[in-house]
Amino acid sequence: MQQKISSDFKLGIIGGGQLGKMLVQAASKWDLKTYILDSDENCSAATLCTKFIKGSFRTYEDVYQFAQQVDLVTFEIEHVNIEALKRLKEEGKSIHPDPNALTIIQDKGLQKQFYASHHLPTAKFQLYQSKAAIIAAIEEKKIIFPFVQKSRKEGYDGRGVIVINSEKEIEKIFDTPSIVEETIAIEKELAVIVAKNTKNEISSFSVVEMGFNSEANLVEELICPAEISKQIEEEAIALSKKVIEKLDMVGILAVELFLTKSGKLLINEVAPRPHNSGHHTIESAFTSQFEQHLRAILGFPLGSTKIIMPAIMLNLLGEPNYTGNAIYKGFEESIAIEGVYVHIYGKTTTKPYRKMGHVTIIDETIEKAKAKATIIKTQLKIIA
Ligand SMILES: Nc1ncnc2c1ncn2[C@@H]1O[C@H](COP(=O)(O)OP(=O)(O)O)[C@@H](O)[C@H]1O
Ligand SMILES: [Mg+2]
Repeated sequence: MQQKISSDFKLGIIGGGQLGKMLVQAASKWDLKTYILDSDENCSAATLCTKFIKGSFRTYEDVYQFAQQVDLVTFEIEHVNIEALKRLKEEGKSIHPDPNALTIIQDKGLQKQFYASHHLPTAKFQLYQSKAAIIAAIEEKKIIFPFVQKSRKEGYDGRGVIVINSEKEIEKIFDTPSIVEETIAIEKELAVIVAKNTKNEISSFSVVEMGFNSEANLVEELICPAEISKQIEEEAIALSKKVIEKLDMVGILAVELFLTKSGKLLINEVAPRPHNSGHHTIESAFTSQFEQHLRAILGFPLGSTKIIMPAIMLNLLGEPNYTGNAIYKGFEESIAIEGVYVHIYGKTTTKPYRKMGHVTIIDETIEKAKAKATIIKTQLKIIA
């Protein structure tokens, strides 16, 4: 068998954003050769990878040709041209996570049907083809306000998700195949990153709690471990492990969950790739989510997911009123604090709420980490 580390073995990563960059950083530790496909030669991962190949992950031909140059294909974004991946799989190319699992995940409608068919708890939903069909269902009282509409494809970071509160807002409904979901009274939003390797071993990181910036609809702050009961923690991990097992995919899977006001856990959605809610693992866990993904897809033993220290992760979003070349105000003051790790993604231009980097803050207790987070939030700003 070909030795994968420090050899000619080539790992192909589709997408060169920050997740690709951090995957390359993890791969570099073992001297793995990394090839990146991205349409932007200035993407975050471009200067770090072994070879950068310009092309779109959405285009059949670009994905297909890229895969010819590598020994194993993975991705850091779920919107990859699925026909190309299916064809490559038929031709015997190694691809993880599996294109069948990705097919389900790419379409939120299929994802919801998958949960329902496996009796995995999720918010009640119905599928609609168009705005007209939703309006007709409202008139027939089949849909009641308030409800959440999500486009089946291409949504991310809150784009493609809308809450319709009343009759007055029906003009806002998207005219696209979508799911209509009951609005959940959410107590906490949680995330669990699970991994399955080629030997079908499954492991889970600790449950994290996500705090949203309601204006940008982006995760602003994350707390690990989540402040929840032991019972909810165990239930969240068990559910997440069941999802990766039923999806029968290899790699890491981020499972987003709602803990409802009535204490129930519901699966919201999943992502078959490294996830914002796992960035803290780089410094706060024995194994990072990026290394765990590599271990899983390369057929290596999974690493320990034990927490070294509690962590807070802050996304560094572009300040609302600035667009242009990024300036990292307060950088030196921030890295001067013990247990503060600043990650800069290397995107040259900042825009309002653009994810420009993140900060992980670790300390002996969550309270101590939170106190440092308060300082970082006021002093570290991305402006232009
Ligand atoms: N059924 C729901 N009830 C209440 N809030 C919801 C519901 N679905 C989604 N949300 C809110 O919208 C956010 C984005 O929805 P999500 O399905 O995760 O889409 P995205 O792909 O944009 O992450 C969630 O994190 C949550 O805050
Ligand atoms: Mg989400």
